[in-house]
Amino acid sequence: MLVNMVEMVKEAAGAKKAIPGFNVFGYEDAKMVIEIAEELNAPAILMSNKDAVAHMDLKYQAALYRAMGEDTHVPVCIHLDHGKDYELCAKAISAGYTSVMYDGSQLPLEENIANTKEVVRLAHAWNVSVEAEIGSVGYNDPTIKAKAIYTEPSEAEKFARETGVDALAVAVGTLHRMQIQDAKIQYDRLEAIQNVTDVPLVIHGSTGLTDEDLTKLSTYRIGKVNIGTALRMAYGYTLRNEMNAHTEEFDRIKFFKKPMEEIKKVIREKYKLLGW
Ligand code: G3H
Ligand code: ZN
Repeated sequence: MLVNMVEMVKEAAGAKKAIPGFNVFGYEDAKMVIEIAEELNAPAILMSNKDAVAHMDLKYQAALYRAMGEDTHVPVCIHLDHGKDYELCAKAISAGYTSVMYDGSQLPLEENIANTKEVVRLAHAWNVSVEAEIGSVGYNDPTIKAKAIYTEPSEAEKFARETGVDALAVAVGTLHRMQIQDAKIQYDRLEAIQNVTDVPLVIHGSTGLTDEDLTKLSTYRIGKVNIGTALRMAYGYTLRNEMNAHTEEFDRIKFFKKPMEEIKKVIREKYKLLGW
């Protein structure tokens, strides 16, 4: 069943669980996320990032994921990840996304607040949930210029109160696109943030978290933990091995079988570590 993110992140944050939000790039990975969510009777969040947006028009992605989500007995949220401006968020909403992230994390605080408020006004009129970011989760990639800035608890309080967002992404030690589990979480900072706002928190760059940190984080008031690189690595490396092992084969559907099985294992493991 299709839903926005509001209730699922609230419930998860209150139940000492966190929902893994997975970056998906089409049918193959979305199907695996939904299969595991149904197996564990857990909510699912399918997220389109900027590479996915550049690859396939949002309206086609929305149509595919909505059709898949409608066929389930678990809640499924279709979420635009890191929407850079109002226009992209509006496009996702009109395409049928049930949730959007507006990412003004590189802007001065007041500008980030003003822009987020505009997105919240539009999205809430359409029953679409909004996530936004305060502080900035940087990138483990020198080609991407986004600065990493830890979230200040006082700014998180002001941002959440003034914008009315449904989920708040905070920077407490992760970086996007880490290929090893090496992030150092500032738990004191996280605790200080959750003491000043009731809005469920979101952790980005969660491929870089150790298994222990994933489990520990799920006991905080965190609604969603974003995971992208871990699935892309599992899919990509397995696909490469398959192609190297079967050089006579050309039918791509045959090549997809093993990578789908591999990411399914990763998806199940992440859900379990997060309390499901
Ligand atoms: O918004 C997407 C996530 O923050 C993914 O981060 O690719 O480092 O797991 P990751
Ligand atoms: Zn992210």
